[in-house]
Amino acid sequence: MIEARAMSKRYGDRLAVDSISFEVARGEVVGFLGPNGAGKTTTMRMLTGFLPPTDGTAVIDGHDMLTDPLRARRSLGYLPESPPLYPEMDVEGYLRFVASIKGVPRGERRSAVERTLERCGLVDVRRRVIGALSKGYRQRVGLGQAIVHDPPVLILDEPTVGLDPVQIREIRTLISNLARPAAGGTQHTVILSTHILSEVEAICQRVILIHRGRKRVDAPIADLVREGGGLESVFARETARDESEPEAATV
Ligand SMILES: Nc1ncnc2c1ncn2[C@@H]1O[C@H](COP(=O)(O)OP(=O)(O)O)[C@@H](O)[C@H]1O
Ligand SMILES: [Mg+2]
Repeated sequence: MIEARAMSKRYGDRLAVDSISFEVARGEVVGFLGPNGAGKTTTMRMLTGFLPPTDGTAVIDGHDMLTDPLRARRSLGYLPESPPLYPEMDVEGYLRFVASIKGVPRGERRSAVERTLERCGLVDVRRRVIGALSKGYRQRVGLGQAIVHDPPVLILDEPTVGLDPVQIREIRTLISNLARPAAGGTQHTVILSTHILSEVEAICQRVILIHRGRKRVDAPIADLVREGGGLESVFARETARDESEPEAATV
């Protein structure tokens, strides 16, 4: 459902993402893990078509971002680092607006918005102005704008950053439910970035770890646990060479 094909991004003479390839299958929830500056956001922006790769491409639900960007982008929902919320709009009005710009037909918008309000736990604040909501609720609205057109693929950049522990648990539950919907609902395929190990263990089946723009690990979490040490020791091992290694990602 999500495929990165040898994607690279160069900023000036710095290679921020270095030929990353991976695939995410339908219904999987994959954690995209790496220290700050590893290249997670850059990779996700390329996956979503917001940033053109220097090399390579992304394929979303069979649509190549290079040759069929419109259909590729229609197939995905994206929660960026700072979601494009309009603080003066109320929650329901904003979601209706997003549904229209994402191409939900007029006759289906009301039900799309209702479904989103329910799934994101926003029913009680539907008439509230976004700017007056707590950070946790604003993050739910951010998730809402990502799912309102019911895309099969979700790309979430640090969905729990800046939230308190209660809000974190709520957002994690919400994400898990998106991948395991009630009968008849769309089964979403999710990749979410984080630098929090426990987040990956809590909601993901698989982890892709990047460091300095390169993929270092791509494995089911159960395998990492079975091999001993688990995520924490893998993370420590794969990101430990910061000081001792020359700047591998710079040419
Ligand atoms: N617009 C930009 N111009 C130049 N360098 C950038 C830009 N965006 C990101 N970078 C650099 O690319 C690297 C990866 O950044 P980023 O993808 O944001 O990492 P992460 O999301 O994993 O923290 C960092 O070294 C960052 O400084
Ligand atoms: Mg980032």
